[in-house]
Amino acid sequence: MIYAGILAGGKGTRMGNVPMPKQFLTLNDKAIIIHTLEKFILNNRLDKIFIAVPKDWVQYTRDLVKKHQLDLPKVEVIQGGADRNDTIMNVIAAIDSQNGLNDDDILVTHDAVRPFLTHRIIEQNIDAGLEFGSVDTVIEAIDTIVESQDGEFITQIPVRSHMFQGQTPQTFNIKKLQELYNSLSQDEKEILTDACKIFAIKGEKVKLVRGESYNIKVTTPYDLNVANSILKGSLDK
Ligand code: CTP
Repeated sequence: MIYAGILAGGKGTRMGNVPMPKQFLTLNDKAIIIHTLEKFILNNRLDKIFIAVPKDWVQYTRDLVKKHQLDLPKVEVIQGGADRNDTIMNVIAAIDSQNGLNDDDILVTHDAVRPFLTHRIIEQNIDAGLEFGSVDTVIEAIDTIVESQDGEFITQIPVRSHMFQGQTPQTFNIKKLQELYNSLSQDEKEILTDACKIFAIKGEKVKLVRGESYNIKVTTPYDLNVANSILKGSLDK
C-alpha cells in the first residue's frame, strides 16, 4: 500500500503572534493545509492520506476538510505527536491499527506547510520509495554553505556542488523506518529531528529526488508574503 502523511502537528511558534498554528492560516482564502491536501488528493496512486494535527485542532481540521468537500473515504485526520518524528510515528500507528504493516508499504511524509509541491515530486517520491525504501526531496544549494560550529568563525566551507537543501516529501519503507526509529536511544531521538537522517546515520542509502525552489516551507511572516506572491503568480516559477 502507498500512504501519505501530511505532518501538521506543530504550533508554528516562529510565525509569531497569530491566532492559530500556521498550517491553518489562509493563502488566497484557503487554509495552507487545504492547498497541501489538494495536491495529494490529485494523486490516485495513494491508498490513504493521513493528516496529523495538534490534539485541540482535530475537530477543527475535520470540519475544514468537510467544508472544502475533501472528506473522502481515503482522507483521515488524526492526532499528531510531541515532535515531528512522533507525529510520523502516530501516522504509522494509525496505519498499523487499521491495515497492519506489510513489507513493501511506503509512507510519503510531507510538511503541511509546503503547499507548493507538485504532482511530479509526489510521483518521483513514490517511484523511488518503492525502489529504494528511503527518499529525500532536495534542491541544489544556491549559496555557498559556510559551516561554523561556534557561530563566530568558519569551521569549513564544503564544496557547493556537493551541497543540497532538504525539502519534503520524504518517503520511507514503513517497516524499515519503524525498525530504525525504535533502535534509537532517547538522546538520539532528540537529536535526529530529520527522519532521513535516521537512515543516513545508520548507514542506509537515501535516494534524492529533485524538489523545486518554490516548494518553500512557510515558517515566518516573511514566508507568508512569499507564499502569497507565488500563489498569485507574481513570482516566476
Ligand atoms: N510538525 C508536526 N508535529 C510536530 C511538530 C511539527 O507534524 N510535533 C510539522 C509542522 O506542523 C510542519 C512541519 O512539521 O508542517 C515542519 O515543521 P516546522 O516548520 O518546524 O513547524 P512548527 O514546529 O509548527 O514550527 P515552529 O518550529 O516555528 O514552532
